[in-house]
Amino acid sequence: MAKSWVNSAERIGADLHLELAGSGGRRAALIAALREAVRSGRLAPSTRLPPYRSLAADLGVARNTVADAYAELVAEGWLTARQGSGTRVAERTEPLRHAARAPRKAPPRARGPRHDLRQGTPDASAFPRAAWLASYRRAVQQAPSEVFGPGDPAGRVELREALTEYLARARGVRTEPDRIVICSGFAHALRLLFGGKDRDRVLGGTLAVEAYGLPFHRELLAAADVRTVPIPLDEDGARVDRLARERAVLLTPAHQFPTGGPLHAGRRAAVIDWARARGGVILEDDYDGEFRYDRRPVGAVQGLDPERVIHIGSVSKSLSPALRLGWMVLPERYVGDVLAAKGEREAWASVLDQLSLADFITSGSYDRHVRRMRQRYRSRRDRLVAALAEHAPHVEVTGIAAGLHAVLRLPPGTERSTVRAAAWQGIALDGLAGFRHPESPETDMPARDGIVVGYATPSEHAYGAALDALCEVLPPGPV
Ligand SMILES: Cc1ncc(COP(=O)(O)O)c(C=O)c1O
Repeated sequence: MAKSWVNSAERIGADLHLELAGSGGRRAALIAALREAVRSGRLAPSTRLPPYRSLAADLGVARNTVADAYAELVAEGWLTARQGSGTRVAERTEPLRHAARAPRKAPPRARGPRHDLRQGTPDASAFPRAAWLASYRRAVQQAPSEVFGPGDPAGRVELREALTEYLARARGVRTEPDRIVICSGFAHALRLLFGGKDRDRVLGGTLAVEAYGLPFHRELLAAADVRTVPIPLDEDGARVDRLARERAVLLTPAHQFPTGGPLHAGRRAAVIDWARARGGVILEDDYDGEFRYDRRPVGAVQGLDPERVIHIGSVSKSLSPALRLGWMVLPERYVGDVLAAKGEREAWASVLDQLSLADFITSGSYDRHVRRMRQRYRSRRDRLVAALAEHAPHVEVTGIAAGLHAVLRLPPGTERSTVRAAAWQGIALDGLAGFRHPESPETDMPARDGIVVGYATPSEHAYGAALDALCEVLPPGPV
């Protein structure tokens, strides 16, 4: 009968699973299992094997069986035994058979751009490592044992309480912990709302979206068979008066993505009226609401009517997209369905990270970090505006009152050549065209040439050079 063993011996360093199989006796089975482990690389050269006694105890075999097996493998050259250093896997001079195949070349490492001005990420070099570690340490130290079991799909109550207070204070969101469901970010929230089969879906039918938006989100919705219908934008934001038969609309009211302006107060009221009249729901993507510079804070639309808005946020812009932590603030009628979509236990957002974020918020670290980053991004924004005023005064820069990116309006017909020239110079950035909904009619919303410049991504020391390089590739002004 096969026997499995998971080694927890103190000196082997790594767990090792052995199968003692076959009918040739325990000694032969152990020799075969150890040979296989060395041959396959599971036991690396010079790894120390466990002492006879602990291996024998773990496997339920006699100590001598282990001693004999080791001796045999030493004689065969698989293992070495030296006084004082125990039995180890031999250093191989000859490659083992399976490794003798032509060595696989490591894929060439994609060289990143010299200057990364893509929108979408915060300054990764500014992640508050020390403060996060302090929160993580406190969270793990203070956590009751049940934290280390399966998690509640709603998310840890500590985090939901911290968010209730924070979102009310910073974003004007009106809610309570029972209406918040923790998720792994905005993309996950979309999957929870629109995933599953027809009748099990939290939201069904078509979804109205802004004519410009993140292609990744459109693709994600298309993959879930959700039809998206574009509504045009003007200087006041989304034309919510154009909402037709749809029952749900996705908006970025604090800072239209990517074109930049806030949704006008009149439109905010109008979209709530629409939702009330039609029994519709507004999905509010509050992706960078914390980062506002010159203008008065724009609170969440959710605050106008918590029963008509699903407010979604994440730490992807404020801390890091690597954390995969976000939240959905739900009207009461959706809570049960979203929890059902999430499943019986937390399978997405690490419970320990949730507790760390709760501590990070309640200890004041989150506010401090956001304030520090706001100053940093504002100064970068100012440097971008100043550089353009000096070197490319004909280029209009828009969407600069908030967020981590700006849109540079270019003369007609120059977007593609500018993006190409930038790529040629090692500058990564996006043209505006890629954000446009493919079904957005030109008559409704004339396309405009432009580039989206993310000013948060480069590290502090690299930013000046990135700006210089950018100004070099912008189309010349009229002479
Ligand atoms: C428009 C928009 N919404 C939401 C997000 C956040 O996405 P997630 O929380 O899935 O990282 C981003 C990217 O950071 C974004 O650009």
